Amino acid sequence: MEEFIVTIDGPAGSGKSTIAKIIAKKYKFTYLDTGAMYRMIALYALENNIDLEDKIAIKNMLDNTKLDIVENKFFLNGKDVSEEIRTPKVSAVVSPVAAIKEVRVKLVDLQREISKGKKTILDGRDIGTVVFPNADVKIYLVASPEERANRRLKEYKEKGVEADYESVLASIKERDFIDSTREESPLMKAEDAHEIDSSIMSIEEVVEEISKYIDKKIGA
Ligand code: DC
Repeated sequence: MEEFIVTIDGPAGSGKSTIAKIIAKKYKFTYLDTGAMYRMIALYALENNIDLEDKIAIKNMLDNTKLDIVENKFFLNGKDVSEEIRTPKVSAVVSPVAAIKEVRVKLVDLQREISKGKKTILDGRDIGTVVFPNADVKIYLVASPEERANRRLKEYKEKGVEADYESVLASIKERDFIDSTREESPLMKAEDAHEIDSSIMSIEEVVEEISKYIDKKIGA
């Protein structure tokens, strides 16, 4: 088997990356966290005070950012920013950055390039709809906003990042709104995606259901 693409799309905190990592390990697939790529650009914009309305500034920013991903570590112009891109300050600016067409064009190209000829599982918002509309298996993973806020809060606590439930919930709802109403590649379920609600299932159950779709496709 050569290229084999599994896509997991869904809103922030629905469990996409947790599930994708497990599936990647189980099937020896490459895992690509596309949200982290948008987060790297958002971090650069934040640190360099980039005006998101200024097309020339956006073009220069994209020309000046080199993204490398090595074993699930994220490097922005050679610097490991894997921790920094997960902070609430980056989460707060990433949705407007991801809504910019030029940013998406660059990152979608990179996503296709990285996955070319490989067995890959990618998670994001537009992977099954725009990046790989012919993917072998497509999943649309959802969960209630409250459940997702609790999960993010737990992640922040484990990392020692200060955050409170109300503001995490508000930030999740705001990102859902921007991500699903934007003009460029909004978050939506691909017609042929399997929808899974992770608020009513354990991680193992979600992995099992996705594995069934993969096994069926592989013919295992
Ligand atoms: O999955 P995440 O929370 O790390 O994603 C960060 C942001 O990036 C999210 O608000 C939407 C955006 N994103 C996107 O627009 N398209 C993708 N394929 C992945 C993420």
